Amino acid sequence: MSTLIQHGTVATARETRPADVRIEGERIAEAGPALPPRPGETVIDARGMYVMPGGVDVHTHLDMPLGDICSSDDFETGTRAAAFGGTTTIVDFATQARGTRMRDAFDTWMKKAEGRATIDYGLHMIVTDLAGGGLEDMDDIVREGVASFKLFMAYPHSLMVDDGVIFKALSQTARNGALVLMHAENGSVIDVIVARALAEGRTAPVYHALTRPPRAEGEAVHRAIALAEIAGVPVYIVHVSSEDALRQVREARDRGVPAFAETCPQYLLLSIDDLARPGFEGAKYVLTPPLRAKEHQPALWEGLRDDYLQVVATDHCPFCFKDQKALGKDDFTKIPNGGPGIENRMQLIYHHGVNTGRLTLNRFVEITSAAPARIFGMYPRKGEIMAGSDADLVIWDPGAIHTISAATHHMRVDYSMFEGFEVRGNARTVLSRGEVIVDAGRFLGSPGRGRYLKRAAHGGAWK
Ligand code: URP
Ligand code: ZN
Ligand code: ZN
Repeated sequence: MSTLIQHGTVATARETRPADVRIEGERIAEAGPALPPRPGETVIDARGMYVMPGGVDVHTHLDMPLGDICSSDDFETGTRAAAFGGTTTIVDFATQARGTRMRDAFDTWMKKAEGRATIDYGLHMIVTDLAGGGLEDMDDIVREGVASFKLFMAYPHSLMVDDGVIFKALSQTARNGALVLMHAENGSVIDVIVARALAEGRTAPVYHALTRPPRAEGEAVHRAIALAEIAGVPVYIVHVSSEDALRQVREARDRGVPAFAETCPQYLLLSIDDLARPGFEGAKYVLTPPLRAKEHQPALWEGLRDDYLQVVATDHCPFCFKDQKALGKDDFTKIPNGGPGIENRMQLIYHHGVNTGRLTLNRFVEITSAAPARIFGMYPRKGEIMAGSDADLVIWDPGAIHTISAATHHMRVDYSMFEGFEVRGNARTVLSRGEVIVDAGRFLGSPGRGRYLKRAAHGGAWK
């Protein structure tokens, strides 16, 4: 079983060069100029195309319970949509319910993915409780390949943990090598502001943003990094949305502190103006942290360019507009938080990053594939084109014009946050472990073919 991808331009985080790529079984065998085809070998013509490592999206919420509802994509529909957009690996979040063991959550999420995932997947663990053996649970779950834990400084009534718990979890990673991810917003202060807004009858979607000020994010990022410094471990800030938050990351990194951070396409391309759309339209854009004023966007792009932000992930957490977002028609706090994007990340960042000159092609590959693979213990198996790496490849057509729309996307959700956005550059052919799973708009993969990735715990690879 051997495949040769011919005549393409290989683009990785390290280099761009004309090269052919030979795949044997599930792995890359070699990459080099003018490799001669072998008898019986499948040949894919990549003339005029970039051949890149498949995208790695380390922030998704598939089949995620929220009260009585669930995010609308499961592991089958979500990973299929990801593949259409050139993403071949995801890391999703299992949530430890308070008062239960992390292993229960691990087993539950493994069952959600089994038989459904069409691409390879790993799991992070959301920690809500360290009482009753929580620290040992962390070690236990690291041995299962869950090499990262997310803790919340927001949502006081459900997910938030206090600084003591955060510090204990961070300290435990000094022993087990895992990486802590922080949802950094000051939840206690936000709760007071939200209560005031509701008391004044302010219930429209835009109040979601107006009650969660950027300073509440900046303050929490500062605290998260300080706690990690005291514990002597790296930390990763998820979904950085504001210049205030980024400033804290920048200041820490300039001092040599191993603080990593991601942002998401929505914070780079959408704004509070979308939340303020007339009627209930704004509910489509209710996600947390909220969309900010446009003025924050240039700093985020610069942060990506200058390595203050290392990763673009999606925080894909879709809820249908008609019957799920509608729960908050009379009260913005009841609108399920989250938005869809797993399919569009590569298209949007390529178009608005590479085509505009904000990012080089290699930096694009770095932030969408190589860096997330490295930080989360999957490199060079994922995120790289070299002998021995998994043959997760995207044959990218830089000239393909595509208009993003809910009418044509593959995510199981009835709207797109990027409706009508035109992009140039799109995945033509997508291979996962050597198998063509998407080609020219057709899905050729199958549910259940995606495998669980046991990830290595080496503290964000910062050493
Ligand atoms: O609104 C969002 N982002 N929902 C998903 C949960 C989270 O905080 O990442
Ligand atoms: Zn979060
Ligand atoms: Zn999230």
